Amino acid sequence: MSSASFDFAPLFPAGLPPPAVRWTGRVKFDFTGGNNDSDRLPLDGLIAAAESVLRREGRTLSTYGLDSGPQGYRPLRDFLAGKLKADAGIACTADDILITSGSLQALDLINATLLARGDTVIIEEDCYQGSINRLTRLGVTPVGIPLDKNGMRMDALSNALEDLERKGIRPKYIYTIPTVQNPTATILPIERRQEMLRLAAAYGVPIWEDDCYADLVWSGERPPAIYSMSDRGDVIYIGSFSKSIAPALRVGYIVAPWEVMSRTLALKTDGGSGALEQMVLAEYCTRTFTKHVPELRRGLRAKLETLMESLREHFGTAAEFDDPKGGIFLWVKLPDSVDTMKLYEPALAAGVAINPGPQWSVNKERSRSRLRLCFASPSHEEIHQGVAALAEVCRREFGVRT
Ligand SMILES: Cc1ncc(COP(=O)(O)O)c(C=O)c1O
Repeated sequence: MSSASFDFAPLFPAGLPPPAVRWTGRVKFDFTGGNNDSDRLPLDGLIAAAESVLRREGRTLSTYGLDSGPQGYRPLRDFLAGKLKADAGIACTADDILITSGSLQALDLINATLLARGDTVIIEEDCYQGSINRLTRLGVTPVGIPLDKNGMRMDALSNALEDLERKGIRPKYIYTIPTVQNPTATILPIERRQEMLRLAAAYGVPIWEDDCYADLVWSGERPPAIYSMSDRGDVIYIGSFSKSIAPALRVGYIVAPWEVMSRTLALKTDGGSGALEQMVLAEYCTRTFTKHVPELRRGLRAKLETLMESLREHFGTAAEFDDPKGGIFLWVKLPDSVDTMKLYEPALAAGVAINPGPQWSVNKERSRSRLRLCFASPSHEEIHQGVAALAEVCRREFGVRT
């Protein structure tokens, strides 16, 4: 073997994203990403489900699509149709559902179905980084709508739609995370959902509802899905098992009218999403989902309490936040002197990983001193120690008085 290395660089096409950095292991106090609580992972249940489903029908693994066709394992889609009806008010059948490899694949597929370079879309101003980055890469302009304590502001949405219409621009969709928004954890009340549907109809724009946190509302009660409230077939709905069971399983789904689904399905040329995961989830969830989720919520709420207490103890009034009604994230405002993009490196050096606000917003200035903290994955002790370490860095680097 020669030690000389082939130069691939001239072969890379224009427009590739910047190179990835090698993973060097998890940091001591990791408040990043959407990782779940390992103590609440229903491991025994998943093991038992794997054993029983494989013994019963494991030989179907010899086919692409498990004898269920290209939309995914039929019993999982049946479970979802029942769950979506019971929890979100969505009337759909297994035929309206496409299983994807995480809802990230759903984001890619719907974008590929609807978008072309130069298009405009409407999103929440503070928004999931994975969604923002995809739009940037596709050369699509996101128009950010500000949020308040009740999610996307409908007056601002109305103004944006009117403004775009005046300019002759018809946005391709209104993308929203209405139930426990990422990163703000706000929940869009039913009246705003109705108003969004009214505006969408008035301007001829479809709505794309991303609902992966909807199982994690502390009270267990969520407003009906926007999808369920429309009688015009103008809503595309996506969900995921990442936040309610486990992100590493990589199982998400799309519910969409056949006109969209048939085009999306034609773009899903991966031979089907991971079969074992779908089988195990269907087996587990059909029996145990409704028991598991309230336990998970209780554990997450307890961790949030620890995070809020730690912030009050170590930051005093310097850290501002609302008590979220659910989810796995706290969206925190630090004093204006703190630029969280600049806080990132020294915090990491102190063993604390955070998500800087500007990466989770299209309003870089307003989000400059904000950060997102995931409280699901670190232990109570790690939350406490990590917040203490972060406060120390903020004092040292930005003169924050805590
Ligand atoms: C709003 C939103 N959509 C989609 C995803 C993608 O999740 P997954 O691909 O794990 O289903 C996430 C992950 O954090 C998210 O927050």
